[in-house]
Amino acid sequence: MKPNIPDRKFCVAPMMGYTTPYARRLYRILSKKTFLFTEMIATKTMIHSQNKNLIIKNDQQNPIAIQVGGSDPLDLSKCSDIAKSLNYDEINLNVGCPSKAVQKGSFGACLMKDKHLVRKCIESMQKNNIEVSMKCRIGIGKVFNYEFFEEFIDEIEKSGIRIIYVHARNAILNGISPKGNRSIPPLNYEFVKKIKKKYPNINFILNGGINNLEYAYNLTKEFDGVMLGRLIQNNPFCLRKIDSIFYGSSNNTFNENTIHEYFEFIKPNIGKDSIFRLLSPLLQIFFGIPNSKKYKLEIHKNMKENKIEALEKTFLQFTKDQKEILFS
Ligand SMILES: Cc1cc2nc3c(=O)[nH]c(=O)nc-3n(C[C@H](O)[C@H](O)[C@H](O)COP(=O)(O)O)c2cc1C
Repeated sequence: MKPNIPDRKFCVAPMMGYTTPYARRLYRILSKKTFLFTEMIATKTMIHSQNKNLIIKNDQQNPIAIQVGGSDPLDLSKCSDIAKSLNYDEINLNVGCPSKAVQKGSFGACLMKDKHLVRKCIESMQKNNIEVSMKCRIGIGKVFNYEFFEEFIDEIEKSGIRIIYVHARNAILNGISPKGNRSIPPLNYEFVKKIKKKYPNINFILNGGINNLEYAYNLTKEFDGVMLGRLIQNNPFCLRKIDSIFYGSSNNTFNENTIHEYFEFIKPNIGKDSIFRLLSPLLQIFFGIPNSKKYKLEIHKNMKENKIEALEKTFLQFTKDQKEILFS
């Protein structure tokens, strides 16, 4: 790691619909050191949306990056100003999303076909003393092609970029869904190892298919950091182990106060955002815990009726009853 680059040893991947401001608060309660990402936010939304405060505010959840989707250098430059003003540590350009909607807007993974434009986009954001990074794939289509990946990075490197997150599989732009694009194209970590050898001064953060913490930790011996998505989506509570495993600090305490702190954070947003968006990160507390059906039923009933006090009580009761399993 370059000494002046903040640590990206363990990152939670940007996930639309999941890494909301509420989820990020939960993640931050559970781990002080994990590097967080927002969901991808389209440049136009970031610049013009009237509801943007609900999606782009930072709430002092640093260290954190805001991820942006776009390909207009002027818009991206404005987004960089906004990111800086909201005290984000980093602005990240999405060059990995394969969805049809994103392709229609000419951003995401299809940008890998125009390396000169990607470089221009990155350069347009590089001002304000904010770190500018990129998240990309290793290629486009069904066939592995290291030369394509290398030539792409050769061009981007000229921007002076210091951090690149690589989802280590190709993006297939036709015929499969975004979900399929996260599992059907095979993983290839070797491409990332090889490009790191060529550019030792760039921090390459490995993403894709890392599905347990021990494996993730072992990968940090070979890569500058790891980025995990679906493991955290399914089980955010495993984040309480990150500070000790990856950073040598002590584990964060997880107890009834965690629930209380979370509820205090979401309460001011009741009525402004949907109850599901407010509470969905916490619903993952049931992951892998037997005999939780009665609590789940109670919670779904109270969610329908918007009964926030009753919801807090049920979550607290659940954490008390399942102490042995949850806090072990
Ligand atoms: C529900 C969901 C939403 C996602 N949204 C984004 C996004 O907004 N931006 C992005 O770069 N990647 C997005 N991704 C991809 C993840 O960041 C990550 O690259 C991918 O899930 C592979 O990592 P994993 O195997 O650890 O899950 C999303 C993934 C999921 C599961």
